[in-house]
Amino acid sequence: MKGLILSGGRGTRLRPITFTSAKQLVPVANKAILFYGIEALAASGIREIGIVVGDTRQEIREAVGDGSRFGVSVTYIEQEAPLGLAHAVLISEPFLGTDPFCMYLGDNLILEKLAPLVERFREEKPNSQILLARVPNPSQFGVAELRDGQVVRLIEKPRTPPSDLALVGVYMFDASIFRAVKAITPSARGELEITDAIQWLIDAGQVVRPHVIEGWWKDTGRLEDLLEANRIILDTLLPRSDGAVTDSEILGKVVVEPGARILKSTLRGPAIIGKGAVIENAYVGPFTSIGDGVTVRGSEVEHSILLEGSSVVDVGARIESSLIGRNASIYRTVAKPRSFNFMLGDRSEVGLI
Ligand code: G1P
Repeated sequence: MKGLILSGGRGTRLRPITFTSAKQLVPVANKAILFYGIEALAASGIREIGIVVGDTRQEIREAVGDGSRFGVSVTYIEQEAPLGLAHAVLISEPFLGTDPFCMYLGDNLILEKLAPLVERFREEKPNSQILLARVPNPSQFGVAELRDGQVVRLIEKPRTPPSDLALVGVYMFDASIFRAVKAITPSARGELEITDAIQWLIDAGQVVRPHVIEGWWKDTGRLEDLLEANRIILDTLLPRSDGAVTDSEILGKVVVEPGARILKSTLRGPAIIGKGAVIENAYVGPFTSIGDGVTVRGSEVEHSILLEGSSVVDVGARIESSLIGRNASIYRTVAKPRSFNFMLGDRSEVGLI
């Protein structure tokens, strides 16, 4: 069985971060979202993974390499334009051949272990297995209608959803999917939808098995979802302290990476402090990921993600529910006149109190 990870897309809902970084490489608990997917496939015994890349191909290649550090071999598949998930399957046929495969959307995170599901798919050999999750906002996803435990209908982003069962971004297929992706036509948003391709399988009498996942799942396309993913994943980490901690208090689950320095500060977990980060006279609160080389001095941060090299210095109020980009800095100056000084990228957001 092979793996297919979709890592194209523009990540418009995470701008400005995604002007300079692929959305799949934004870290959650200091690990790129994409790596969770690669690891889940590897843990399911999948050794050959194709990664479909678009505009951010260079960055994805640099981050993942040949896959050897995940114990897999990675083949990159170029998608010239984001023409849909089914289009990504279509162009991956030369890589996939006639092998069954597990397709994983590179911006999705699921807590449930994939290995037993992959195993079941391998043994029972349906034509497709889809994962479903109950969500409060089904019209933002592909939605499944089940009858007597069978999938009867799938609709992409329906205005009036027939159920609250959203299609999770992890799918398993055999080679019959290629007939489907060749038969369908683009949707209203101009994309070849995988949802339509699976509907085609159903209509053609193929076996599409649903599995409703119990655990948590997130499509991390928006800031709120990213912060929630961060919160949940941080809670699964095992605490350890490999940095230098002086005159500080560490409460709850906190990971301090090697080379980090914590001085006269309070860290309240779950939180992670990256390599070489400096936390001084500061408070880092629950659900916070501090990236490598970040400085937090004379400030308070909570429920946030601070990317590599960023700094927060002498900010007089608590920073909360924020995503701070690489090498961005927030600081207070004593210069007069007292004024706010900004240099913000396009589409940045600043919430003042
Ligand atoms: C895609 C699929 C949708 C699925 C979702 C999961 O949506 O089209 O059916 O529920 O991923 O993340 P998109 O992210 O392309 O809007």
